[in-house]
Amino acid sequence: MNVAPLPVGLSPLSDAASSLEGEEGARLRERLASVQALVGDELREVEALLARVSAEGPAPGTEAAQHLVLRGGKRVRPTVLLLSAACFGEVTSTARALAVVAELIHSATLLHDDVVDEGDERRGAPTARRVHGNAVSVLAGDLLLVHALRLTEQALPSALADLIQTLGSLVGGEIIQLRGRRELDLSLETYDAVLRGKTASLFSWATRLGARVGGASPADEARLGAFGEGIGVAFQLVDDALDYTSEETGKTLLADLREGKLTLPLVVAAERDPRLAPLLTGIHAGRLEQMDEVRRRVLESGACDEVRRRADEVTERALSALAEVPASPARGLLDALARQLTARRV
Ligand code: FPP
Ligand code: MG
Repeated sequence: MNVAPLPVGLSPLSDAASSLEGEEGARLRERLASVQALVGDELREVEALLARVSAEGPAPGTEAAQHLVLRGGKRVRPTVLLLSAACFGEVTSTARALAVVAELIHSATLLHDDVVDEGDERRGAPTARRVHGNAVSVLAGDLLLVHALRLTEQALPSALADLIQTLGSLVGGEIIQLRGRRELDLSLETYDAVLRGKTASLFSWATRLGARVGGASPADEARLGAFGEGIGVAFQLVDDALDYTSEETGKTLLADLREGKLTLPLVVAAERDPRLAPLLTGIHAGRLEQMDEVRRRVLESGACDEVRRRADEVTERALSALAEVPASPARGLLDALARQLTARRV
């Protein structure tokens, strides 16, 4: 089947679809065509709105914002929001506006995150902070945050309370993560709180609000919320494993380790290899030359496979919640997207 490319990233599906041969590739290309048929027009509109909104405001804030936003990205959050709406009804202009909000918030957090983490590369290019400086990157994030709040107020004022709570979770997750720089904390509870705060909260907002504006019952809205939370957790688990295993994420390899960031591959590897905790303490104390050894030990411990196994498990639970809402083409696509995100290798 010949599929016209989507104007947006949707890379988990489109990259895999173009690289896979045989039955699996064909199945994926078919799903991509279905996304195209179901929400392709809406995604194009979301993309146009994103470009317009991120241009609003004074330069150089807008330049830094557009440096990030116009480089694409997977657009996973808007896509799941639109598909969540399509599970229950028509995809209205309100759903499209909220899909833009989801990506604006995500972009704002990345502009801040790259300052906090001193990130050098994102989406295969130098980060906005490297091009425009830290101060501009922070203010560009603020600009996008304000656009997101204004757009929500215009599109669905009742969604603001939920969004503010979600923003609180995002910030809270990041702050808890930051504690790891002061003292080494290899507890699963801390890692879980970070993951749910900084990543799963926005996924869950997107699927829940999508369902709400699509006309879902409160019970189905909660199911979509649980689905979003699960795929958010799985997404971050895979991201954290990729920090050790992939050189093609468009980000700097071992960035998490360099930043003293606690992630599950480290937690699991430290449980299996008693030599790791002292090495990590050394990295904490600035002995960065030990990073290669830590990476080798993490890989040898099989921790990344274990993390992927846990991501599969969380995804399966998320899919069970999704399976309880009425069957529809959109539900099938959410199912496929969740599996694809968890299986991604870059
Ligand atoms: C990326 O994680 C960062 C996040 C998922 C959230 C960042 C949130 C904030 C900075 C606080 C909230 C900000 C606003 C504007 C409300 P990562 O660093 O693990 O991933 P990466 O490898 O992509 O950098
Ligand atoms: Mg980061």
